[in-house]
Amino acid sequence: MIELEAVSTRYGAVPMLREVTLRVGAGELVCLLGPNGAGKTTLFKTVAGLIRPTSGTVRVAGSPDARTERIAALGVGLVPENRRLFPGLTVAQNLCLGYEAVRRERVGFDQGLEDIGRLFPRVLERLDQMAGTLSGGEQAMVALARALIGRPTVLVMDEPSLGLAPKLIREYFRIVEELHARGSTVLLIEQNAGMALRIAQRGYVLSRGSVVADDAAEALRKSSVVRNLYFS
Ligand SMILES: Nc1ncnc2c1ncn2[C@@H]1O[C@H](COP(=O)(O)OP(=O)(O)OP(=O)(O)O)[C@@H](O)[C@H]1O
Ligand SMILES: [Mg+2]
Repeated sequence: MIELEAVSTRYGAVPMLREVTLRVGAGELVCLLGPNGAGKTTLFKTVAGLIRPTSGTVRVAGSPDARTERIAALGVGLVPENRRLFPGLTVAQNLCLGYEAVRRERVGFDQGLEDIGRLFPRVLERLDQMAGTLSGGEQAMVALARALIGRPTVLVMDEPSLGLAPKLIREYFRIVEELHARGSTVLLIEQNAGMALRIAQRGYVLSRGSVVADDAAEALRKSSVVRNLYFS
């Protein structure tokens, strides 16, 4: 569902991703770990079609080099870093934007809202509230709901748990695990290696733009590469 082959990206003269190869198969839950500045968000933007790689190929949902609008229409739900809600719009309006982005029209908006209500009853209670006035935890749930309302088959998330209290992080990861169990393909980009490796099947570790480890979650939990990156 997601396939990066020897992808390199630079910001001006500065190389950021260096020959990154990464694959997420249908139905997999794969995490991408890495410390600050490793290039995680650059990779998210590359998958989302917001950045063109300088070399290498990107295929998402079978489509090569798709633009962001098309990526969403292909059934890919994006949860960007820092949520990126529209603070001056209501929760309902934010959800509507996520719904419109998909435009597959297989499911009505109201039906989508019902789906959301089952996962996050709190979001339905806040439909008329300005998104900018929600708590951090509520904003995180709305950002996920916005990605889910068009019933995507693939979810790509950039540090969704950042800034959440530990109890909410557990709740959030439980929902991601449930989405995966229902058949969604997930690429979860996280700094929280402990939590991510608990729910993922496989993982990649990015450091200074390069993949430095690529293994089963179980093996990464014990890996000195992961330990050294995070605890040195
Ligand atoms: N638009 C840009 N122009 C120039 N350099 C950039 C730009 N965006 C990011 N960078 C640099 O690229 C590097 C990787 O940034 P990126 O945001 O991908 O890292 P990250 O792994 O997501 O970090 P974090 O954990 O802090 O979110 C950083 O050194 C950053 O300063
Ligand atoms: Mg980032």
